[in-house]
Amino acid sequence: MATREALAFDLYGTLVDPIRIWTRLERDIPNLAVRIAEVWRQKQLEYTFRLTAMEQYEDFEQVTRRALDYALAVTGHDLDPDQNAALLAQYDDLEPFADVEPGLRRLREAGYQMVIFSNGSPRMIAAVMERAGLHTYLEGFVSVDEVRVYKPSPRVYRHLAARLDRPLEQVRLISSNSFDILGAAAVGMPVAWIDRSKGVFDTLGDPPEVAVTSLTELADALQARPG
Ligand code: LAC
Repeated sequence: MATREALAFDLYGTLVDPIRIWTRLERDIPNLAVRIAEVWRQKQLEYTFRLTAMEQYEDFEQVTRRALDYALAVTGHDLDPDQNAALLAQYDDLEPFADVEPGLRRLREAGYQMVIFSNGSPRMIAAVMERAGLHTYLEGFVSVDEVRVYKPSPRVYRHLAARLDRPLEQVRLISSNSFDILGAAAVGMPVAWIDRSKGVFDTLGDPPEVAVTSLTELADALQARPG
């Protein structure tokens, strides 16, 4: 029988929801909370891509802080230092999507080796895992911080496989982020797209063969495959 592949889960947007942080912004900035949360996330990713293109690196905590400053500035808002610090602290306490716990439980029971693989700094990932209760199901995490370059550089996916001591084709990347799916597929990793964007996949490539809308659906899809 073939060795069962390992599953590597993206964190932000796949297991926990960075946009839901708007609920914590609403008290201070009632009208623009969702818009700020969206710009914050978009800018955070853009900065990771740009740093990678410039062959520079700042950790995800710093990138997240800078992106929040941008989102506030572009929407014409200011938070006092305490509010700002409290909001950044909420990034360690992001809500998991509703399907995550039941989906991870089923996959764990099926015997998969499962880890988180994220742009997050080790401190951030550990904090989110603990608060969201993900440590119950996942064996640990691999942070891109170990190689100081962001997704979707091929280096990070190769590093992930090396850390799990498996060939690339024995590690499946599970992500809602199309750029992550395309990056992993480009180096030969199997992938599964968790469609949390109503069917809209990046037009830079095609959606993968395994495309589902939840982790419970993923458990069904993977169980139907040989492994
Ligand atoms: C992560 C980003 C891509 O968790 O959301 O790696």
